[in-house]
Amino acid sequence: MPERSTRIADWASAALMSEAHGSRIARIAELSLEMLGALGKCPTYTGAMTEALALEPPPFDTAPYDTLYRDSAKDTQWMATSLITNSEREGDGSRRLWSLAAFADDGEREQLKQHAVDESKHSLMYLSMLDLVFPSSVLPEFRRELRQLSPGFSMHQTLTPVPGSPYAKEPTMDDFLQMNIAEIRTTIHHVLQRQALGLHCPPQNREALKSIQDCLLRDELAHVGYTAVIIERRARDLDRRKVVGLFVRRFHNFNQITLEELGDNAFDCSLACCAKRDWCRAKAGSTQMAFHAS
Ligand SMILES: [Fe+2]
Ligand SMILES: [Fe+2]
Repeated sequence: MPERSTRIADWASAALMSEAHGSRIARIAELSLEMLGALGKCPTYTGAMTEALALEPPPFDTAPYDTLYRDSAKDTQWMATSLITNSEREGDGSRRLWSLAAFADDGEREQLKQHAVDESKHSLMYLSMLDLVFPSSVLPEFRRELRQLSPGFSMHQTLTPVPGSPYAKEPTMDDFLQMNIAEIRTTIHHVLQRQALGLHCPPQNREALKSIQDCLLRDELAHVGYTAVIIERRARDLDRRKVVGLFVRRFHNFNQITLEELGDNAFDCSLACCAKRDWCRAKAGSTQMAFHAS
C-alpha cells in the first residue's frame, strides 16, 4: 500500500530529522513500537536500551557522523557503490534470516520468514534505486550479475536452511537483540541516504525513487518493532540485569564496527569487510555478531 508507506515514511523521517543527535536511536525504537501499536508495552526493552545507550553512546547518532556521510555521498562513484553494497548486505541478511526461520518455533517462524522475504526484496530495491539514480551507469552484463545478490525468497517457498549456513540453528535472545540494533542503524543510514540520493537523482525519476524509499523505511521500522516485541517477550524469563548487560555488549560491538568502518569511509559493512574480524559476523557454532545486515 504505497499511500500508507508514504504516510509512515514522511512521518518517521520528519520526526527523526527534527530529533536531536544522541536521542535518535531511542526515537526510532519509539516510532517503531508506535507503528505496531505497542508503544508503552515493552518496558524492559525500552529501559534496558536506555541504560545501554547511556553507557555506550553510538557514534552513528552524532552530528560528525552525519556530516561525514553527507560529504562522502556527494561523490557519484561512492554513492553508486554504496547502493550495491547495500544490495549485497540485504541479500546476505536475508539468507541468514531464512536459515534461522527454518529452526524457529511457531511463535516466531512466520515473522522471521517475512523478515527474510523483505530483505530479499530490499536487495533488489537497492538495485532499482541504482537504475533510477544513475541511469545506464552499470554495464548490462554486470547488472544481470547483481541480481544474484538477492536470494529471491517469497512467502510461498518452503523454509529450508541455506546449505552450510551457521544460522541453521534456533534463534536466541542475542540474535534478536543484534537484529534490533542492526535495524536501528540501518534506519539511521536510510534517513541519511534518502536525502543524499535526491541530490543525484534525475528529476523525472524522483517520484519512483521516493516510493521505493518510503517502502524501505516502513519495512525497516517494522523490523525494529517486531524484534523489540520479541525481545520484551523473551526478557520475561530472564534477569533484567542480563538483558541490560547484553544490550551494553552488543552496542559496544556495533560502535566498534562503526568506528572501524569510518576509517575506511564506509557506512555499511560488506562481506569482505566482515571477514576481517572474528567478532564481527557469526562464525559457525558461535554466538558472535550475527546481524550486521538488516
Ligand atoms: Fe532491509
Ligand atoms: Fe531490515
